Amino acid sequence: MAALPALFGLLMAVVVTGQNLDITPREAVRRVGDDLTVLCKVPYPIDACRMTVGTTSYRLIPNNQEEEIVYAGQGLQHGECGAHIKHIKEEWNGNISCTLPPQTGQIEVIGTMRLLVAKAPANPQLISPPQPAFREGDGFMAQCIVPNGRPAAKITWYLDEVQLLAGIHQPVITSEPGSDLKTISQNVSRTLAPEDNGQKLVCRAEHEALDGPREAARQLVVHYPPKRLESGPITIFGLKLGGEGRLNVTIRANPAPTTEWTVGDLVLIPPRSNEDGSITALEPLHLGGGFYNVTLVLARVAKEDVERTYYLRVTNDLGREEFAVRLSTMDEPAGVELETGAIVGIVIAVLILLIAIILVVFAKATGRWFFAGSRGRDHTKSSGESTPAGDVLLESGTLPSRTDTESAAGQRSRLSALSARVRAVLPRGRDRVQATEPIPEVEDKALAEEKKGVVYAELALGDQNAEKPPPPSTEYAEIVYTDQPAPVKEAKE
Ligand SMILES: *[C@@H]1O[C@H](CO)[C@@H](O)[C@H](O)[C@H]1NC(C)=O
Ligand SMILES: *[C@@H]1O[C@H](CO)[C@@H](O)[C@H](O)[C@H]1NC(C)=O
Ligand SMILES: *[C@@H]1O[C@H](CO)[C@@H](O)[C@H](O)[C@H]1NC(C)=O
Ligand SMILES: *[C@@H]1O[C@H](CO)[C@@H](O)[C@H](O)[C@H]1NC(C)=O
Repeated sequence: MAALPALFGLLMAVVVTGQNLDITPREAVRRVGDDLTVLCKVPYPIDACRMTVGTTSYRLIPNNQEEEIVYAGQGLQHGECGAHIKHIKEEWNGNISCTLPPQTGQIEVIGTMRLLVAKAPANPQLISPPQPAFREGDGFMAQCIVPNGRPAAKITWYLDEVQLLAGIHQPVITSEPGSDLKTISQNVSRTLAPEDNGQKLVCRAEHEALDGPREAARQLVVHYPPKRLESGPITIFGLKLGGEGRLNVTIRANPAPTTEWTVGDLVLIPPRSNEDGSITALEPLHLGGGFYNVTLVLARVAKEDVERTYYLRVTNDLGREEFAVRLSTMDEPAGVELETGAIVGIVIAVLILLIAIILVVFAKATGRWFFAGSRGRDHTKSSGESTPAGDVLLESGTLPSRTDTESAAGQRSRLSALSARVRAVLPRGRDRVQATEPIPEVEDKALAEEKKGVVYAELALGDQNAEKPPPPSTEYAEIVYTDQPAPVKEAKE
């Protein structure tokens, strides 16, 4: 039973520690020599304040500010027990704890924070494939390792001055067993392009204990065969007969290309001229970034110079390209002429497109009116104005019936039924079909006879569309429209 009060006291201490003692900060990173203030607070007045830094426990007295570690806070009567550590030592890396009297009982309350005394890592190491040069398209992977920092260093990657964000892998942080020093490593991978040639891949390490970043770098060398950026034939424009002619071709290659011009039987490897000095091949001129201007100079452009083809062969370790170069005395650069032609072409194309759209819209509109024929019948039926002829037409509305030797009377009755329907229907559609024939013509028997083919064609269409859902409502007018030849054509579709 004697154990019970002790257990209770322990419980109280835990509760007090957990709830009432507040320590700030809970964690800090400092360099050796930095200062740090740790503050512990309880919500009741205290009469003592102890702080354990490293292996030593310090008794802190508010009036004494002379030592290396001194009291900080607003006073013991406010429940504040803080320590101002003026110069942090490497061996203080670890826990700092404050010990305060309890509000009740005899078990002291303790707060703990973690101090990381920053330790600079070793220099970054960049590990990359050993070969001195790569090829365009090669996959490239490099690894940067920054060993033994406390805490771990931060790694960033650069290509020359531009930070690399693509192809960066997750960093991996490891530490030796029993050590709080951390080694960080990170990989970067990249598909090499001509633009990467000559760039410096940089691994930059930053750390709290370093005054500035440290870097490890490697120059990238990317080789690729000669190529021209534009495709298609090369024509040099704007040459003047009798004047100097310069044939420039811009190519890209790494390593530097060798060039060779062929003019008829003449082969020139720069720097060289032909015997009379009328043709000179210049050394490729490096423009930077692997671009070269390869130039052939004609001292005086003659008519036969314009008529022939010049062949340029460009070679490096990785390949060879051959280009045919033609000359033109046209003043207008080709681009402008093409542009004018293109504009005219575009205008014509737009006009054609407009016409096509109008035609399609027109055809669509008439087509829709056509479908409406079947709907019109349905409509007349559903509205109770059933016409036997209409029913007959629906059943036998196939093309063969067009050639039937039906009696004229039968046809006439059909037609009159139809025209009745048309009349019933027209008032709704008339505004849309002002251009179509007036109703009396539909009623005219002679004309109606002429129109029977048209009517039948329409009916055939109606059958085709019998299973379709009812088309939009604009239709009835088209029965009148069928008088025109175009809808007949549509009906045959
Ligand atoms: C430091 O304090 C943490 C709890 O805050 C504890 O887990 C750890 O063991 C302590 N370390 C040392 C070295 O006392
Ligand atoms: C990083 O690259 C090294 C070799 O360069 C390799 O051994 C390691 O597995 C790679 N790690 C990751 C996370 O890609
Ligand atoms: C051709 O290149 C030369 C230098 O090689 C330059 O001076 C000249 O302006 C270029 N001419 C044309 C038409 O591009
Ligand atoms: C290189 O050649 C191009 C034409 O291919 C020309 O426009 C440019 O001016 C030339 N540059 C130099 C520096 O010769």
